[in-house]
Amino acid sequence: MLREVLTHSAEETIAFGRALTELLTPPKLVLLRGDLGAGKTTLVKGIAAAFEAAAEEDVTSPTFTLVHEYRGARANLYHIDLYRVDTPRELETLGLDDLRSEGSILLIEWGEKFPRLLRARDVEISLEREGESGRKIRVCC
Ligand SMILES: Nc1ncnc2c1ncn2[C@@H]1O[C@H](COP(=O)(O)OP(=O)(O)OP(=O)(O)O)[C@@H](O)[C@H]1O
Ligand SMILES: [Mg+2]
Repeated sequence: MLREVLTHSAEETIAFGRALTELLTPPKLVLLRGDLGAGKTTLVKGIAAAFEAAAEEDVTSPTFTLVHEYRGARANLYHIDLYRVDTPRELETLGLDDLRSEGSILLIEWGEKFPRLLRARDVEISLEREGESGRKIRVCC
C-alpha cells in the first residue's frame, strides 16, 4: 500500500498525521524518514493528537531525552529520536524492545541508521522538502 500527499504547511502535515490512525493501529513500529527539518516531529503532533495521547503543542522533539512517552486512551505512543545515537550498543541501552506491546506505537526518527530497525518496521513514512514549505509525504507498509 502506498499513500502519497504534498502538504503546503506544518498545519497540513499535522492534519495528514491525524488521518493516519487507521493505518497505525497498535502495535506498530513506524520509521519516520527525512532530512533535518523535514517535518517528522510535526507529523507526530497530528498522530499523537488523533490517538488522544497528547495535544499537538505538547509534542516536542525528543532530541536530547531520546524517548518521549505519551500515554493515551487509544494507544501509548513512544516518540524516539535516534539522531544522536551512533552505535547498535547505544541503541540497545534504550531498551526499545521493552516498549513494544499490544497497545504501543513506536514512532522513530533516524531509525533507518540501524538495519535491525529497518527489518522490524511495520510502516515507513518519508518526508521530502519541496521548496520552503512544501513536503512530499509517502507512506508505505
Ligand atoms: N509542509 C510542512 N510540513 C511540515 N513542516 C513544515 C512544513 N512547512 C514548513 N514546515 C516547518 O518545518 C519544520 C519541521 O520541523 P520538524 O521538527 O518537524 O522536523 P524533523 O523532521 O523532526 O527534524 P529533525 O530531524 O531535526 O528532528 C517546522 O519548523 C515546520 O513549521
Ligand atoms: Mg524531529
